[in-house]
Amino acid sequence: LWLHYRTIENKKVLKDYQQAIQSISIQKGSETLDIINEEVKHALNTMLQQKTPTANKNSNSLIISKSISLKSGKNSSSLSNELAQLTDEGYLIQSIEGNTIITSKTDIGLLYGTFHFLRLLQTEQPIDDLSIVQSPKTQIRVLNHWDNLDRTVERGYAGFSIWNWHTLPEYIDQRYIEYARANASIGINGTVLTNVNANALVLTPSYIEKVKALADVFRPYGLKVYLTARFSAPMEIGGLKTADPLNSEVQKWWQQKTDEIYRSVPDFGGFLVKANSEGQPGPQNYGRTHVDGANMLAKALKPHNGIVMWRAFVYSEHDPSDRAKQAYSEFVPFDGQFADNVLVQVKNGAIDFQPREPFHPMFGAMPQTPLMMEFQITQEYLGFSTHLVFLPKLFEEVLQSDTYRKGKESIVAKVVDGTLHNKKLTGMAGVANIGTDDNWTGHPFGQANWYGFGRLAWDPYLSSEEIAEEWLRLTFSTNEDFVEPMKKLLIQSRETVVKYMTPLGLHHIMDAHHHYGPGPWISKMGRPDWTSVYYHKADSIGIGFDRTTSGSNATSQYADPVAAQFNNISNTPQKYLLWFHHVPWDYQMLNGKTLWNNLALTYQEGVDEVEEMVSTWHKMEPYISKLEFKEVEMLLSIQLKEAKWWKNACMLYFQQFSDKPFPAEMEKPE
Ligand code: GCU
Repeated sequence: LWLHYRTIENKKVLKDYQQAIQSISIQKGSETLDIINEEVKHALNTMLQQKTPTANKNSNSLIISKSISLKSGKNSSSLSNELAQLTDEGYLIQSIEGNTIITSKTDIGLLYGTFHFLRLLQTEQPIDDLSIVQSPKTQIRVLNHWDNLDRTVERGYAGFSIWNWHTLPEYIDQRYIEYARANASIGINGTVLTNVNANALVLTPSYIEKVKALADVFRPYGLKVYLTARFSAPMEIGGLKTADPLNSEVQKWWQQKTDEIYRSVPDFGGFLVKANSEGQPGPQNYGRTHVDGANMLAKALKPHNGIVMWRAFVYSEHDPSDRAKQAYSEFVPFDGQFADNVLVQVKNGAIDFQPREPFHPMFGAMPQTPLMMEFQITQEYLGFSTHLVFLPKLFEEVLQSDTYRKGKESIVAKVVDGTLHNKKLTGMAGVANIGTDDNWTGHPFGQANWYGFGRLAWDPYLSSEEIAEEWLRLTFSTNEDFVEPMKKLLIQSRETVVKYMTPLGLHHIMDAHHHYGPGPWISKMGRPDWTSVYYHKADSIGIGFDRTTSGSNATSQYADPVAAQFNNISNTPQKYLLWFHHVPWDYQMLNGKTLWNNLALTYQEGVDEVEEMVSTWHKMEPYISKLEFKEVEMLLSIQLKEAKWWKNACMLYFQQFSDKPFPAEMEKPE
């Protein structure tokens, strides 16, 4: 991953660092502090090519400690003022009196500060005048593993689940430790071990013992364990006749189950719940509401400081009009009714992790409820682990979208970090792309998406460019001839995938079953909303989903002026055109060309851009290991083949409706 430290490449920088860090002094006395000691020694040995002695020298020392005593009183008081401003996970990194000081209120804060400092070294930043004050902007920064107990991973493309339930609790795989270390290095502080389509078995005593073993490994890295709670568990493993949240036996069962978990895992984080969605059980099975269900679990967790992450991803086969509207319609009326330890976890868009979606209209629309962001790191709809797509660019686009809920600048990031409506409980979840593959994520560049998710969960205002540059420098090389073109490639890669899969606001036109490759045609999946034609609605007149006031009226779920903008075809950004409008094939677009020609040319651009990615990559050979170079080369050639597949399949399919020739600039389908 990004933690395989390399010797500092630039000789001058290396000399400066060796000069600045002639000794280290690191606090001892806890498992976390031991981890810091090990990490620093290992990192400096490799990066600085020196065995840095442990000593308390007067200057040129790296000092990592919760209590810092300084010679100059003035500095000392400003340090303690700054320390007081930090959250428990925050840290300071300061150059004071010729030393580099990392300090914090807690051991975990020191660990985060240490990783930040090591990142500065590996990316070759100046360290002679540091004045860094950092606290995470969101509180709960979790990976969601869609891992099943049989080790298959729903929508996982990097091997099997890394949790080996068979050998737990006795056998602690080194991977668990590396996993915790990698997460700590980017500030992730929680992990939901199990699939949202939950199996109640994980709540039985023999699994709780295994969960405890993992929690014990993760604790010194600041990583809390959470589980998914199958709503019908009281019946399946508790022998009750109902799972009705208002039934006192059911409430008692959850209370006792929760207490039982906390006896084994005293810092257990809480439950993640998918209820009444895609056939999963939930409170509505008993005529109850999301509030009834969430609050019942919240009550059981409350005495232990646990939380509920209740997912808003709901859509039913019974309302075929517009699936995009359902979560908002079902949840927004409940604003203010959820217990104070419940977060509603909302996907970034109203459909389902498409290559591009407008931000979910729930963001900003529930001022009295903490809403947490759910991003998908695993590339379910973006070419699995085969296509190179840098997702922080997608995450950034959503976080920067303006909801206008409290006037201009009410961006989604402010909902997520709680500042828009003054929320204390805040969080971001990422559906993990991790598996047993040697490189963890299948595609070597999938690691960048795990990395970028963690960085954005810590600070949702970071730019995707900054993240791309950091990750490239950490993982491969600091040579500008590598970093600059590759940064460009990463940043462009998200738009490229949109162009060759779902341009101009198209969505959900992949194969309906496994979600890989194009499938704009009618599928045999049964439900009307599980077939692509429901979403693109191509006919002889045009293409796109009319979600305006004359259509499904989903635009009204946004605040004005966003609603007005999306409602009016001439004001709608072209990237969302077919998301909100059914547009005639001959509609004239901003560049003066027809919609049909634009569709064709955008697909073609997508293909051309993958070709450019291939040629950029070929120039990178000197900077990359042979193996990784070859791996990415092979993957890119599949991506190129499949970009053409998408273009050809979609254009040939849509041509049946448009009845128009392909523009000359588009390479004809073979
Ligand atoms: C998508 C995905 C499912 C997943 C669901 C969810 O529909 O295809 O595998 O269970 O999202 O987020 O709950």
